[in-house]
Amino acid sequence: MVTRALDVVLLGPPGAGKGTQAKRLAAAYELLHLSTGDMLRDEVARGTELGREAESYMKRGELVPDELVGKMLLARLHSQQAAAGCAFDGYPRNTEQAKLLDGLLAELNRRVDIVLYLNVPDEALLARLTGRRSCPACGAVYHVASHPPRTEGVCDACGGALVQRPDDREEVIRERLRVYHEATSPLLSYYQARGALREVPGTGSQDEVFELLRQAMRSSRA
Ligand code: AP5
Repeated sequence: MVTRALDVVLLGPPGAGKGTQAKRLAAAYELLHLSTGDMLRDEVARGTELGREAESYMKRGELVPDELVGKMLLARLHSQQAAAGCAFDGYPRNTEQAKLLDGLLAELNRRVDIVLYLNVPDEALLARLTGRRSCPACGAVYHVASHPPRTEGVCDACGGALVQRPDDREEVIRERLRVYHEATSPLLSYYQARGALREVPGTGSQDEVFELLRQAMRSSRA
C-alpha cells in the first residue's frame, strides 16, 4: 500500500511554541521538520551570501524577502527526507508564501493537509521569548523558568553553551509581533476557508499542548 505524504503547517505568533512542538510532531509522525528560522540562522552562522542578506532583516524583526526564503525551501522540499511529508515551522509567513507553498506541493501531488494554529495571547509571548535560551550546536531550546536546563547555561543534550537569540530583545520582539499580526495572521482565514485550520490553545504545558495537537491531528485524519 502506498501511503500519501502528510504535510502539516504550524502557525502562530513568535514564541507560541511552533519550534518546540514541530520537533515533537515530526518525531511522532516521521515528518521532516522544516524551520525556515533555523535554516536562516544556519545561513547567517555560516556567513553565506544568503545569510548576510537575511541577517539585517532578522535583526530588525522583519520578514526576509519571499524569494530568498522560497529558494531555500525549494531544495529541502525536493529532498528524499521530505518525501513522507513535512512539519512546516515558520513557513508560510504571508499570503504570497502560502500560495507559493501550494504551488510547490501541487507539483509533488501534495497539499497542505492540516494547519495547526497555536493560539497564545501576546502578553504571554514576551516572557517566553525573553526567557528562551537555545543551543547553537544541537538546536535544543530551553526556557529559564518553564523548561530550564539541568545546569544553567549548559545544554542537557550536548553540553554546548546556551545563547540568547539576538532577535529575542524586547524591542525586536515587539516588531516581530507587529509583523505577525499584519502579515501572518491573515493566513488564519486563508486556511480556514479551505477547512484545513485547527486551533489549539498553546498556553498549557508543553506536554499538554502536544496532546492537544495530537488530538487535532487524529480528528483531521479520521
Ligand atoms: P523564526 O525562528 O521562525 O521565529 P518566530 O516565528 O518568531 O518563532 P520563534 O522561533 O521565536 O518561536 P516559536 O513559536 O518557535 O516558539 P519556541 O518553540 O521556540 O523566525 C525568526 C526570523 O527569521 C523572523 O523574524 C524573520 O526575520 C525570519 N524568517 C523566518 N521564517 C521566515 C519566512 N518564512 N519568511 C520570511 N522571514 C522569515 O518557544 C519559545 C519559548 O517558549 C522557548 O523558550 C520554549 O521553551 C518556551 N515554550 C514553548 N512552549 C511552551 C509552553 N507550552 N509553555 C511555556 N513555555 C513554552
